[in-house]
Amino acid sequence: MCNTQDDQEGGGLASYRSTYERSLQDPEGFWSEAAEAITWYRPWDRVLDDGQAPFYRWFTGATLNTCYNALDRHVENGRAAQTALIYDSPVTGTVDSWTFRELRDRVARFAGALAGQGVGKGDRVLIYMPMVPEAAIAMLACARLGAPHSVVFGGFAANELATRIDDAQPKLIVSASCGIEVNRVVEYKPLLDRAIEIARHTPDRSIILQRPQAPARLIPGRDLDWHEVTEHAEMIECTPVAATDPLYILYTSGTTGHPKGVVRDNGGHAVALNWTMKNVYGVDPGEVYWAASDVGWVVGHSYIVYAPLIHGNTTVLYEGKPVGTPDPGAFWRVTSQHDVVTLFTAPTAFRAIKRDDPDGEHITPWDLSSLRALFLAGERCDPDTLHWAEERLGVPVIDHWWQTETGWPIVSNQIGLEPMPVKPGSPTVAVPGWDVRVLDDAGVEVPDGTIGSIVAKLPLPPGTLPTLWNNDDGYRQAYLDTFPGYYLTSDAGYRDEDGYLWIMSRIDDIINVAGHRLSTGAIEEVVAAHPSVAECAVIGVADELKGQIPVGFVVLKAGADRSHPVIAEELVRSVRDTIGPVAAFKTVYVVPRLPKTRSGKILRSTMRKIADGQPWTTPATIDDPAILDEIGVALGK
Ligand code: COA
Ligand code: AMP
Repeated sequence: MCNTQDDQEGGGLASYRSTYERSLQDPEGFWSEAAEAITWYRPWDRVLDDGQAPFYRWFTGATLNTCYNALDRHVENGRAAQTALIYDSPVTGTVDSWTFRELRDRVARFAGALAGQGVGKGDRVLIYMPMVPEAAIAMLACARLGAPHSVVFGGFAANELATRIDDAQPKLIVSASCGIEVNRVVEYKPLLDRAIEIARHTPDRSIILQRPQAPARLIPGRDLDWHEVTEHAEMIECTPVAATDPLYILYTSGTTGHPKGVVRDNGGHAVALNWTMKNVYGVDPGEVYWAASDVGWVVGHSYIVYAPLIHGNTTVLYEGKPVGTPDPGAFWRVTSQHDVVTLFTAPTAFRAIKRDDPDGEHITPWDLSSLRALFLAGERCDPDTLHWAEERLGVPVIDHWWQTETGWPIVSNQIGLEPMPVKPGSPTVAVPGWDVRVLDDAGVEVPDGTIGSIVAKLPLPPGTLPTLWNNDDGYRQAYLDTFPGYYLTSDAGYRDEDGYLWIMSRIDDIINVAGHRLSTGAIEEVVAAHPSVAECAVIGVADELKGQIPVGFVVLKAGADRSHPVIAEELVRSVRDTIGPVAAFKTVYVVPRLPKTRSGKILRSTMRKIADGQPWTTPATIDDPAILDEIGVALGK
């Protein structure tokens, strides 16, 4: 083993400016120092390998194991008896916890169960699970074997699952019989069975965690019971993998119905995530960190599972909602009961709490003295929500901006380095490693205060996506081709005179619904497939709770024989059945025509402004201006 060393824990805060500048001037020195906090089997030959630019690789030649770094090394280095994972599930009335030793043993045994089914290094394993500890155990067991996992969020329907099965081609699927939402039990197994039926690729086996709320029927010869396969499995040691080998694939919405398989490597990921825990989030090993998200999203991968454990923190896995499980005091109960130091969630969760408990009455009974900071991400944080949280909690509230692709924050106030004054509405400044620029359409940098495309100069820092799964061309097209030499974030915004970034909107069809990333193009594909629909547009409309919600406008085929409400209901059902309930697609307007330019492009941004009640002007290129009034009438505006 190479040396294991904690990063700069304790001591005074390093200056943000000097740390940031060093990270850009000497990225290899900067990240190789950060890499000393990770345990390697073999050191790297090169810190940054640009041999295949614009495809960059970090720590080539090195070998390590991410699960070893998350669990075993802590067991060996004095944290064996520290709590590693707290499972808090108000929906089942359970609070349980495991030390690093106990979690390591459970993971090693489940890795043995996977190996017993023939899973080895390089084999993909798809994980479709609710927020149960077994989801994290399955992820870590895959990492232990060097088998890339692909976790699919439970709120996606069978069709989305099938698309991911076909792309990742997993050897095995790990799932659970059901998930538990506020007011219903969601049976996962029928969705999984349907997905396997639709998919072209057939996995060899499924391992199913039976939950008492809705046990599933197992298919003999294919489905195995989690407890049965694990009970007698042998505990498996960690498999060394290359730093550049994939740790996981995480699918995220692209501009079509075909999701993009974001690849994460092992080495750069461990280095970067570990570095963020102290420098961005300001936590020390041994403290309790809680990301109230879902393992199906990148926040769950990075900050429920990998970063806290690699850094030696206790992580909380919460199976519940901010409200309704049982009340808007749920987050304060969990924070207080488990001495949470840092809470990370989406602004929408706080909007829900604020809506149900505007005066913070559910906060008062709880001792929140452990809490040092609240971090928010996933969507724009509106200043009202930020101020409400600041006033009620009395701790810094930090909006930070990042993406599935980047795996960790691009722009943030970094409380472990040097906290900056907050400007509500801005996630503050670029994080070390990120050379963020704002470009016009011609690729020229714009002056401060001018809106443009936000990009990051290549090479991206470690832990960011090296490519898309089996799709180097797609990676280039989506991220690199628009502005050669830069990574396109697809967010538009500006930098102000103090260097603060302001994230204004997406430049593609992605919308953020309750912090969940969705493609309106993908919803349009489902709507357009209805036999009575001639054409349609789906746009993201502002919503007080969820930030945005998708709203459909459809033009019916001449002679469509169904009444409008029936077709609208059918469309809502079909999006729910095809994409999933998480799309929250509930509103459809039947309109006589769609507003278009003379060249036939649907004027979505004007429609959005009308729907949001914002000022709008009739575009000069419009084919027939009267249609905009018709849209306004349909929306009651
Ligand atoms: N499995 C199955 N269904 C799921 C699901 C899951 N894992 N997660 C959500 N759903 C369903 C919900 O039950 C709901 O179904 P419904 O239409 O029958 O009510 C639908 O998907 C939409 O869910 P959600 O987005 O959670 O909305 P909600 O109205 O139930 O709750 C909030 C609103 C704000 C409380 C909730 O969105 C929330 O907690 N948001 C925080 C989001 C977050 O943490 N994002 C991660 C980024 S950091
Ligand atoms: P996801 O990949 O699901 O994390 O979604 C990433 C997208 O969410 C970004 O490209 C932004 O559009 C949006 N987003 C995430 N965090 C923020 C933030 N703090 N402020 C504004 N938008 C954000």
